[in-house]
Amino acid sequence: MVRIHTLHIEPPVVNASCAWASEYEQLRELYDSPHTGAVVTRTATFNGYSEDATNTVAFAKSSVSSVNSYGYSPHSLSKYLEWVYTLLTTPMLDGSPPTKPVIVSITASTPTVLAEMVENIQTLRKKLRASYSASTYGDFAPPTPSQARRTSPGASPASPTHTHTAPAIVPTIDPATLVGIELNTSCPNIKDAPPPSYTFPFLLPYLDVLSSAFYSDPSLTIGLKLPPYLYSTRFAEVVRFVHTYTREIRPAAFVKGSQQQPLDSDGQAMRSLNPFAYLACTNTLGNCLFFGEQVFNDRLESSTYTGGSASTDMDTDEPAPPRTPSPSSSTSSTPPPAPPSPTITPSPFALPPALGGLGGDSMHPIALGNVYSFARLLAAHPDHAIRRIRIIGIGGVTSPAAAARMRAAGASVVGCATLLGREGVRAFEILAGQP
Ligand SMILES: Cc1cc2nc3c(=O)[nH]c(=O)nc-3n(C[C@H](O)[C@H](O)[C@H](O)COP(=O)(O)O)c2cc1C
Repeated sequence: MVRIHTLHIEPPVVNASCAWASEYEQLRELYDSPHTGAVVTRTATFNGYSEDATNTVAFAKSSVSSVNSYGYSPHSLSKYLEWVYTLLTTPMLDGSPPTKPVIVSITASTPTVLAEMVENIQTLRKKLRASYSASTYGDFAPPTPSQARRTSPGASPASPTHTHTAPAIVPTIDPATLVGIELNTSCPNIKDAPPPSYTFPFLLPYLDVLSSAFYSDPSLTIGLKLPPYLYSTRFAEVVRFVHTYTREIRPAAFVKGSQQQPLDSDGQAMRSLNPFAYLACTNTLGNCLFFGEQVFNDRLESSTYTGGSASTDMDTDEPAPPRTPSPSSSTSSTPPPAPPSPTITPSPFALPPALGGLGGDSMHPIALGNVYSFARLLAAHPDHAIRRIRIIGIGGVTSPAAAARMRAAGASVVGCATLLGREGVRAFEILAGQP
C-alpha cells in the first residue's frame, strides 16, 4: 500500500486521467475493479470542453501505443463532483463503504477560474465530511448492494444535488480524505495553447492558488500532472519552483492548531510542509505523427492515396537507394518534399489534425527517464517536504514488466491510459499479472 498524503492507494496502480475515465459508468467500473487502488477522472474544465470530430484517438498496430488529439472532457467539473459524491457514498459490490480514493483532474485557463474550481472541490469534500460526521453519530444501517444505486446518477432522489440527508452507509474513514486534486498543465493538444508546464514560471499563479487552498486546509492532497521533459535542467527547474512553496511549520504550533495534522511515516509531526503531494509523470508526448497505415481502423487502407511527393520513400520499408548526383545537381537543388495538408481527402494520417499526443510503449523510455530524473532529484533534496513527494509513473505501463520498470525508476504508484483504452478495465488484471 502506498500513502500519498491522505490517499491510501492499494494496489498502487491507477488509471491515468484519460478519455476512458470520462463517463460515470467508466468511473464506476474503474472504481469497482479490485485491481485499481484509486481512480483518476478525465481532466475537467469549469464548464466542459467543446469536443468535435477532430478530437479522437488511434492505436498503433506494431505496439501498444496510441496517438490522440483530445482536449479535455466535455463534462463540466460540477458533473464530475456529482459523480465523485455518488462513488464515495455508494456501497461497494460487497456492501462495504467505499475506501478507494478518487483524484479529480482539473485545468483552467486562468488562476481565478482555477480558484473557483478548487473551492467547488472543497465544498464537495466538506459535504462528504458532513455526511460522515452525521453517519458516525447517527443510526444508519448499510443497505445491501442491490439496494444501492450503481447505475448512472440521473435526477433520482439519491442524486448528489438532491441529497441533503445523511448517506445510507456508514463510512469507516472520512470520505473527504479520499478526494484528491490533480492539476493537468500538460495537455499537448490545445490549439494555440502550448502546455504551460513547459514554461514552468507560467504555472506559478496556478500553483499559488493550489498552495493557498492547501495551507487553509492541509488535508487536501494535490498532484501535478507534468509533460515529458527532454533535458535535465527542466527537472531541476520544476523541483526548484515546487520547493518555493514549502513552509516551515513549528511542530508545537502545528499540533495545537490542527486536528488534521499530517504525520510523517514514523508518526512524527512534520517540520516542513509542501502543498504538492505527488508528481504524475508523464502526460503524452506532443506533436507526434502516425500515418494511417500504422494504426488500426486506419483511414488509408481503403483509399487510393499515394502520398504525393512526400510518400515515395515511405511506401516501402526498404531503404532508399543512394542517389547518385546528376551532373546538374551541383548547380540546381532538388525541391524539398511537400508534406500533405491534414485536410486533404482521403487523409494519409491516423488523426484528423495529423499531429497528436503519443502514449503507450513508444513513449515508455522517455516516461521512465522523467520518473527517474525526478525521483533522483526529490530523494537528494535537503527539504524533508520535498523528499516526501511521491511519483505516479505513467507512460507505456502496458505489462507487469513495464510497471516493474516504472517502480524501479522511482514511481510509488503506476498508471496507464493506452492499455486501458485497448483492453478496457481488464488492463488492470493484465498489470496484476492475470492476463
Ligand atoms: C485518449 C487519451 C486521452 C487523454 N486525456 C488526458 C486527460 O484528459 N488528462 C490528462 O492529464 N492526461 C490525459 N491523457 C494522458 C494520459 O493520462 C497519460 O499521461 C499518457 O497517455 C501516457 O500514458 P500511457 O502510456 O499509459 O498512455 C490522455 C491520454 C490518452 C491516450
